Amino acid sequence: KPVYLNGRYLPIEDAHISVLDRGFLFGDGVYEVIPAYRGRLFEFEAHMARLDNSLACIHIGNPHSLEEWRGIFAPLLEDGTDQYIYLQITRGAAPKRDHLFPEHVAPTVFALSAAIPPYPARGTGIKAVCLEDSRWEHCHIKAITLLANVLLRQEASEYGGAEAILIKNGFVTEGSSSNVFAVIDGVLLTPPLSDGILSGITRQVILKIAETGHIPCREQAISIEDLKRADEVWIASSIREIVAVVELDDLPVGDGKPGPVWQSMNRLFQAYKQ
Ligand code: PDD
Repeated sequence: KPVYLNGRYLPIEDAHISVLDRGFLFGDGVYEVIPAYRGRLFEFEAHMARLDNSLACIHIGNPHSLEEWRGIFAPLLEDGTDQYIYLQITRGAAPKRDHLFPEHVAPTVFALSAAIPPYPARGTGIKAVCLEDSRWEHCHIKAITLLANVLLRQEASEYGGAEAILIKNGFVTEGSSSNVFAVIDGVLLTPPLSDGILSGITRQVILKIAETGHIPCREQAISIEDLKRADEVWIASSIREIVAVVELDDLPVGDGKPGPVWQSMNRLFQAYKQ
């Protein structure tokens, strides 16, 4: 299956970038992960709007229009199965390593598609671990610079957790690669958008579904204490979709099984996907 690199479709073994690429040297780039169910891109406009925003934040011009992006992805999705697009744009390869933005350098544009792996834990729920959010102050940018996220996810895994739930100043921000929801006193809560979290597209869809499905829902800060007494905790992302956290820091959440609000939301989300 080919990948896309700077205007060409190539076998992955033949897709090469320079060691001077600023993505490699500085983590100077942004990315998107866009699911495509049965070959159809999911919430395409929302993903592209977030890409626009990420690019603007790091002062890279968007190299393509919405319709050009659609055309770029189409050949990667031809077999019509459930796949996702990984898209990465970096500031490109400058003639020498220099922190300053280079002039007259074209961004590097790379995209691949891959099968959405089955996620059996969606049925049973997962264990998560609360960790201090050690990331930078601009987590609303979907930057490829993910060292802190990688270290936190690895640390969670060493405690047997499938996700790290990140805490800043005593309040939940998000997961290491997901947004966080909690059901507390019958209301579905998620932290409000800020520069400290990514505006997840799955999060947006959940908020929309909650409204149409009459599930009481609010964007509201969640303290660590509230998280620990929540009846339900979920994480949400493209690929993993919506997953109940049934064990948090070695204690069961609710009765230790995916709860009724998750059951409803997951049913509505699966229908919405189609
Ligand atoms: N990550 N927050 C962070 C830090 C993320 O990395 C992600 C997604 C999300 C959820 O966003 P969305 O619903 O748009 O996928 C929230 C992707 C999937 C990744 O890095 O692979």
